[in-house]
Amino acid sequence: MKFKDYLAEKIPEAPKSLLPSRARIIDKIAILRISSELEPWFKEISRLALQYYPRVRAVYRWIGVEGIERRPIIEHLAGERVRVVEHKEYGWKLRLDIERLMLCLGNSYERLRIARIVSNNEIVVDMFAGVGQFTIPIAVIGKPRKIYSVEINPEAYSYLVENILLNRVQHIVDPILGDCKKIVGEEIKEIADRVVMGYFGGTIEALPQALEALKPIGGIIHFHELVRRGREEDFIYTIKKKVEEQGYWIDVKSWRIVKSYSKTRNHIVIDIYARRTN
Ligand SMILES: C[S@@+](CC[C@H](N)C(=O)[O-])C[C@H]1O[C@@H](n2cnc3c(N)ncnc32)[C@H](O)[C@@H]1O
Repeated sequence: MKFKDYLAEKIPEAPKSLLPSRARIIDKIAILRISSELEPWFKEISRLALQYYPRVRAVYRWIGVEGIERRPIIEHLAGERVRVVEHKEYGWKLRLDIERLMLCLGNSYERLRIARIVSNNEIVVDMFAGVGQFTIPIAVIGKPRKIYSVEINPEAYSYLVENILLNRVQHIVDPILGDCKKIVGEEIKEIADRVVMGYFGGTIEALPQALEALKPIGGIIHFHELVRRGREEDFIYTIKKKVEEQGYWIDVKSWRIVKSYSKTRNHIVIDIYARRTN
């Protein structure tokens, strides 16, 4: 029986159209997006989630994210307060405290896609490394020569270091605690074959530094942003102009929707080849 039908059967008084159709499961944790209109039934819904998903030990309600560090706002509703999860994907593991840090399951195919296109002679820069959401798959699957992974939040950085050890890729990844807008383009300059910009809400502000990181012969930038549906071509035009203004030649290789983000916006990634013009 589907989760929504299960809830509707057990709580017939709750409006069925508002009941969640599924939970996002990360390790032993279920995260529910539940409308605040269902508040009188939060406890009951979360108790039923524990029964419906037998491996789940804790249920949380997703509220949103805040700040440049993208801190999750979530509420513990039922079960043990298991905070640290170990999420297994396509051959790699990511550990993190889900009350403090973000892991987006909707990005999992994008993690695999990038990991598969990296080759073993590359130097990669991951500008917004988080707990290693891109760094770890790239290191495990792509096995490049080196990945410089920059993260500004000390808590995320400490899980990045832990995930490097957990996945045994310490010979590949060089984790750096700090602001990528200061470090990349200064200490990390003209060395990258590929730059990953896995961030949204102002990614363009770090584009000059990403360009500076590329080798003089050019390289690839994976540029993420939230874009209004149907306005992708306009957005790509803005990026092209910005790259050209910085004195680079640009070839937009492709772009794809990573996931639907809201009713009006998609999370997209644009694969750009850029090379200095002079
Ligand atoms: C939403 S997470 C995304 C992590 C990963 N790149 C992904 O796409 O799944 C964005 C991360 O960028 C970090 N961040 C934000 N601004 C930064 C900056 N200026 N320099 C380095 N890291 C930054 C945040 O702390 C956060 O961990």
